[in-house]
Amino acid sequence: MYRKISSVWISLLILFGGEIHVGAYLGISWGRMATQKLVPSMIVDLLLQNGISELRLFQPSFHVLDAFADTNIGLIVTLQENYLKNVVEQKQLDDYIHERIKVYSEKGVKFRYVYVGNEPFTKSLYMKKQFNGTIRYLNMTREALDKFNLPDVKATTPHFTDVLTNVSKPSEGDFREDIKGKMLEFLDCINRTGAPFVIHMFPIFTVYTYGFDVDFAFFNNKSKFKIVDGNNTYTNLFTFMYDTLVSALAKAGYGDMEIIVGQIGWPTDGYVSANEKNAEKFNRGLLQYIARKEGTPLRPNRDINMYLLSLTDENLVVTDYGPYQRHWGVYKHDGVPKYKIDFTLQNRDVKPSVAKGTTYVELRDHLDNFLGFI
Ligand SMILES: *[C@@H]1O[C@H](CO)[C@@H](O)[C@H](O)[C@H]1NC(C)=O
Ligand SMILES: *[C@@H]1O[C@H](CO)[C@@H](O)[C@H](O)[C@H]1NC(C)=O
Ligand SMILES: *[C@@H]1O[C@H](CO)[C@@H](O)[C@H](O)[C@H]1NC(C)=O
Ligand SMILES: *[C@@H]1O[C@H](CO)[C@@H](O)[C@H](O)[C@H]1NC(C)=O
Ligand SMILES: *[C@@H]1O[C@H](CO)[C@@H](O)[C@H](O)[C@H]1NC(C)=O
Ligand SMILES: *[C@@H]1O[C@H](CO)[C@@H](O)[C@H](O)[C@H]1NC(C)=O
Repeated sequence: MYRKISSVWISLLILFGGEIHVGAYLGISWGRMATQKLVPSMIVDLLLQNGISELRLFQPSFHVLDAFADTNIGLIVTLQENYLKNVVEQKQLDDYIHERIKVYSEKGVKFRYVYVGNEPFTKSLYMKKQFNGTIRYLNMTREALDKFNLPDVKATTPHFTDVLTNVSKPSEGDFREDIKGKMLEFLDCINRTGAPFVIHMFPIFTVYTYGFDVDFAFFNNKSKFKIVDGNNTYTNLFTFMYDTLVSALAKAGYGDMEIIVGQIGWPTDGYVSANEKNAEKFNRGLLQYIARKEGTPLRPNRDINMYLLSLTDENLVVTDYGPYQRHWGVYKHDGVPKYKIDFTLQNRDVKPSVAKGTTYVELRDHLDNFLGFI
């Protein structure tokens, strides 16, 4: 798998002639709940222009998958809960995996992960909808992938950091008591099938929830605030959050489990300190941190693979949690970049290129998405 990623970087290197780091990758997610959408072929161009080799999609739509054939861009697709809840027997899932993953693999789409649902154990609003079937559907998805001989496509489910208890230092990290049984079942399942633990983390929320100095959320060493934990000192929130998860996994018996940061970012509106200046600052620090490959005190000198949230704003996303949900994009929903970011991890002072090729989409076409978006 890592060899394949390297070859993407190498081909980008040839394409752009730049000095590109091999190893850790930075992906991005692309949601399509906007009145103006970039057409999939433009997205492919945009990713290639920006040197982004990995993309997370929220739905495996046929016409989107078509655009990724033979592109070498690694894809994550999500099986949405509104789809899964109608699955009663294995055959349905087999057919779905066949038509969307197997057939497209044969057309040269490079699938990395299939997400089965999204943040099922999260505590806040969605508690009421807590998704009971996650592990069963995870099992069924794995079975279908195996049936079609797709052992390298891993099935997992992403979680939000609120699956963890609140801590004062990372070594206290543990999973919430009310979900611990389910989480252990889940961990057994992904460990058995060699899938990673995917965490969605949002330092902008955690820094305020915990009442930390906001500078602690950036990676610029401006904060005087530190957290000392035994022999380890934490100077930024990301490493604090990451090692809290590492500790929780270790207590559950999975100290070496691979972790992927499935969503991380900084919105530009709709939340305290959410603006373009801070988003640029956060991403600049984060990308330099990835490039330095320093890892965290509990996992030093390691690559950490991450997916930024997100490529474009989505002006039709439901805002159950808050208005910031529509403002995660590096690009506005019409394809204009908001701030500077160098996806090639070289810290150049560049704005991404303007995207061409947006199409206006009728509101009624989004009804399915509205019902399904979790
Ligand atoms: C979850 O599923 C199990 C087994 O199918 C069932 O017994 C249980 O009542 C369900 N719980 C909820 C909250 O739906
Ligand atoms: C998932 O599969 C494992 C291994 O076959 C099995 O032990 C477990 O009971 C299954 N869980 C569910 C909820 O289907
Ligand atoms: C952690 O703290 C926040 C803010 O005080 C609270 O909303 C949340 O419920 C706490 N989480 C747990 C697992 O106790
Ligand atoms: C996790 O998987 C690895 C590799 O298959 C295995 O050696 C290890 O025992 C598993 N861990 C647990 C706690 O089951
Ligand atoms: C922050 O400070 C630490 C410890 O002094 C140092 O190792 C690290 O390189 C600094 N990071 C940045 C981004 O300046
Ligand atoms: C801290 O470091 C010292 C000296 O290396 C070592 O003896 C001690 O066990 C460490 N403590 C912890 C909690 O790791």
